[in-house]
Amino acid sequence: MHPIPVTTTATATSEISSEQGEDCVEAGSSVISARNIDVFYGEKPALTNVNVEIPRHQVTAMIGPSGCGKSTFLRCLNRMNDLIENCRVKGNIFLDGEDIYAPEVDVVTLRMRVGMVFQKPNPFPKSVYDNVAYGPRIHGIASSRADLDEIVFNSLDRAGLLDEVRDRMHESATGLSGGQQQRLCIARAIAIAPEVILMDEPCSALDPIASARVEDLIDELRQKYSIVVVTHSMQQAARISQKTAFFHLGELVEEGDTERIFTTPKDSRTQAYITGRIG
Ligand SMILES: Nc1ncnc2c1ncn2[C@@H]1O[C@H](COP(=O)(O)OP(=O)(O)O)[C@@H](O)[C@H]1O
Ligand SMILES: [Mg+2]
Repeated sequence: MHPIPVTTTATATSEISSEQGEDCVEAGSSVISARNIDVFYGEKPALTNVNVEIPRHQVTAMIGPSGCGKSTFLRCLNRMNDLIENCRVKGNIFLDGEDIYAPEVDVVTLRMRVGMVFQKPNPFPKSVYDNVAYGPRIHGIASSRADLDEIVFNSLDRAGLLDEVRDRMHESATGLSGGQQQRLCIARAIAIAPEVILMDEPCSALDPIASARVEDLIDELRQKYSIVVVTHSMQQAARISQKTAFFHLGELVEEGDTERIFTTPKDSRTQAYITGRIG
């Protein structure tokens, strides 16, 4: 794997996990812990005091009305907010116990470990093959052409796309359907062997059949990866996630087992949202 440097401000947990190595990380433990996260755009607060644990090998859904901060929070998890000029993040996010905001952390390596898939499929204007090979090439992951071929074919296979593109590997990816393009973007994310995949409304630009394929894929992928999905569809959250976090007006109101959130929410705002009274 690609360890990020241990921080000088390491907590007890990070010392244990970095000394013992990844294999010793408890299977059921969180892959990501967010502690006291505040985010500002300029002076304007977008998120206030968010605390959440992202479980390993599960799908965590982030739900809530438009503008409540779901995308902002997702971008905190691989420091994509660093790219937004006036955006400031306070608090700590630990990935396998290591603080990803520590100054010595290499952001490129971090984003290999925490990959991202966006709302609108965004394949590069290159061939199907070159889209998936792109990450392994720039990060020098493959040692030979045969090795690269294997990574590309495996990633497409895991993304449920190989059978559809086997004969089109060298055609432009922009000629694929929207649903195929989104699965290609997932294959591209997988190709650099991430631990966590962040998805921001990955189905909202897709038709119902293509969405269903991507939903099935998300469920399969959790065996190998930990997944965080932002969705504005409560039905989708209920179908694909094991854990749900409900955001409202920049606050994480409630989180827990998906089934419980949708059947017996504790907070009246969650109740109002899932019954369609707010949002
Ligand atoms: N780049 C930005 N610059 C300024 N404000 C932003 C930016 N991105 C998001 N915001 C603001 O932050 C809040 C949360 O937005 P966002 O995270 O996109 O919400 P969601 O994904 O839940 O719809 C909104 O008030 C939005 O207007
Ligand atoms: Mg959003």
